[in-house]
Amino acid sequence: MIPQIKNICCIGAGYVGGPTMAVIASKCPHIQVNVIDINSERIREWNNSNLDKLPIYEPGLSQLIKRCRGINLHFSTEMKSNISKADMIFISVNTPTKTKGRGAGKAIDLKWIESSARTISLYAKGTTIVVEKSTLPVRTAETIKKILTTSSNDNNTKEEKTFFVLSNPEFLSEGKAINDLTNPDRVLIGGDNDLAIKSLIQIYSKWVDKGKILTTDLWSSELSKLTANAFLAQRISSINSISALCEETGADINDVACAVGSDKRLGKLFLDPGPGFGGSCFKKDILNLVYICNHYGLEKVANYWQTVININNWQQKRITDLVVQNLFGTVSEKRIAILGFSFKANTNDTRESPSINICKDLIEEGAILHIYDPKVEYEKIKKDLNSSDLISNNINHKEGGWIYSRNIIDAASGTDAIIILTEWDEFKEINWSKISNVMRTPSWLFDTRSICNIHKAKSFGLNVWSVGKGK
Ligand code: UDX
Ligand code: ADP
Repeated sequence: MIPQIKNICCIGAGYVGGPTMAVIASKCPHIQVNVIDINSERIREWNNSNLDKLPIYEPGLSQLIKRCRGINLHFSTEMKSNISKADMIFISVNTPTKTKGRGAGKAIDLKWIESSARTISLYAKGTTIVVEKSTLPVRTAETIKKILTTSSNDNNTKEEKTFFVLSNPEFLSEGKAINDLTNPDRVLIGGDNDLAIKSLIQIYSKWVDKGKILTTDLWSSELSKLTANAFLAQRISSINSISALCEETGADINDVACAVGSDKRLGKLFLDPGPGFGGSCFKKDILNLVYICNHYGLEKVANYWQTVININNWQQKRITDLVVQNLFGTVSEKRIAILGFSFKANTNDTRESPSINICKDLIEEGAILHIYDPKVEYEKIKKDLNSSDLISNNINHKEGGWIYSRNIIDAASGTDAIIILTEWDEFKEINWSKISNVMRTPSWLFDTRSICNIHKAKSFGLNVWSVGKGK
C-alpha cells in the first residue's frame, strides 16, 4: 500500500526549504508541514507578524505564508517532536563548497547533510521517507542511507526504524521560486523503492500534471541536477564570451542573442549577457562536477567544465578593468554609484553575487562606492564586503570604501559613474534627465546588464558603456 503522508518535516528554512514548503502547504491542506532550522533567528523571522520582514524576499511568498502559517505550515527550532511525527522528511540544508581539507574549493561540504541525517536517525519513528532536496554530489543518497541505518542501530533503541531515501532535486530559480514551484517544467524523483516514490508523486500530483513527473534511479536524479545547472551556467558563459567579441567588433549582443535564440534547438531563454553568473548553485555545482570528473580520472571532461567558471571570473574582472580604464585609468577618490547588489533581480540573496567581487576590486582601487539595492539590507552588504561603511567607520575618504544609499538619486549624487549590476525593473526606467543633473561631469554609465535606454542616457550627456554593444 502507498504510505499516506499526513505530516511532513523539512530540515532547513532557507531559500529552498521555505518557499518549497509554503507551496506544498498551500496545495495540500490535508498535510501538516513543519519547517525546522537550527538558526533560531531565521525561525523568528519566518514567524514575524510583519510579512515584509520574512528572512527571504520572493515575489508571492508572503501571500502564501499569510494563508498557511499557523494552519498547516509551522516554523520552529524543535527537532525531536517534529521529526518523530513526520512520515516524510525533506533535507534542505546548505551544501556549500568545502573551504578546507580534502577537496577544498571544489567538493561539496556534506557536514550539514550528515548532521541532519544523524538527527533524523535519532528521532524518527517507524517508517520514514527521507527526501534529499539540496543539490548534492552524485551518490550522496548512499551516504545518507548509511548514516540513517547504521546510526539508528547505534542509538540503542529496541524500536524498529525503516528509512527510504529519495532524491528530489529542486529546480526553482530565485526571484521566480513560487512560479517555478507551482508550474514546474518537470519534477524529478529518484529512488529505489516504488511505494516511497509513489507517495511523493501523490503529493506533487495535487498540482503538477503527472506527465511532468519524471522518475529515475537515485544516481541519475542527483546527476541530472548538477548537469542542468552546468548547462545553464555554460549558456551564460557562452553569451558573455561573445559579448566581449561584440564590443571589439561592433556587433550588438542583444541582436546576436535574439538571432541565435530564434533557433528552436537553442531557445531564447538564458541568453542575457551580464557581469557573470552568481547565486548559491552554479559555481558550487560546476566545481563539484569538475571534482567528480577528476576523481574518476576524466581530466578532459573536468577541464571542459572548468572553463565555464574561468570565463565567469574573467567577465567579472574585465568589468572592473574597463571601469577603471574609462575613468582615466584611476578611480582613486572617485565616487561611483553601484545599482544592484543581489545576484539577480527579485531576490535579496547575495550569495556569489558578481557585485561583491566588483565592489571589492573597486574599493581596493580607492573608489568610494554609493551602493543601492531595492532589497538587500545594509548589514548584508557589510558582511559581504567584510567592512563597515565609510561613515560609521569614520574612515578618511582617501582610502576607498562604501556608503549605503536608500534610492537611485541618493546613490548617483556627486558620482562620476553609475554601474548597473542587477537587472531590477526600477533600473530600466531611470530618469536620465534628473540623474545627469546630480552627477559630476564627465559622467559615465556602465550598464553590465544591457537594460538601460542608452540613447536617452547619451542624450543627457552621459558617456555610456553597455555590455556587448560594439564601439
Ligand atoms: C539556478 C537554476 O536556474 C535553478 O534551476 C537551480 O535550482 C538553482 O540555480 P538561481 O541561481 O536562483 O537558479 O538563478 P538563475 O536565474 O539561474 O540565475 C543565476 C545567475 O545567472 C544569476 O546571477 C543571473 O543574473 C545570471 N543570468 C541568468 C545571466 O547572467 N543571464 C541569463 O540569461 C540568465
Ligand atoms: P538553500 O539556498 O539551499 O535553501 P540556505 O543557506 O538558504 O540554503 O538554507 C539552509 C538552511 O539550513 C539554513 O537556514 C541553516 O541554518 C539550515 N541548517 C543547516 N544545517 C541544519 C541542521 N543540521 N538542522 C537544521 N537546519 C539546518
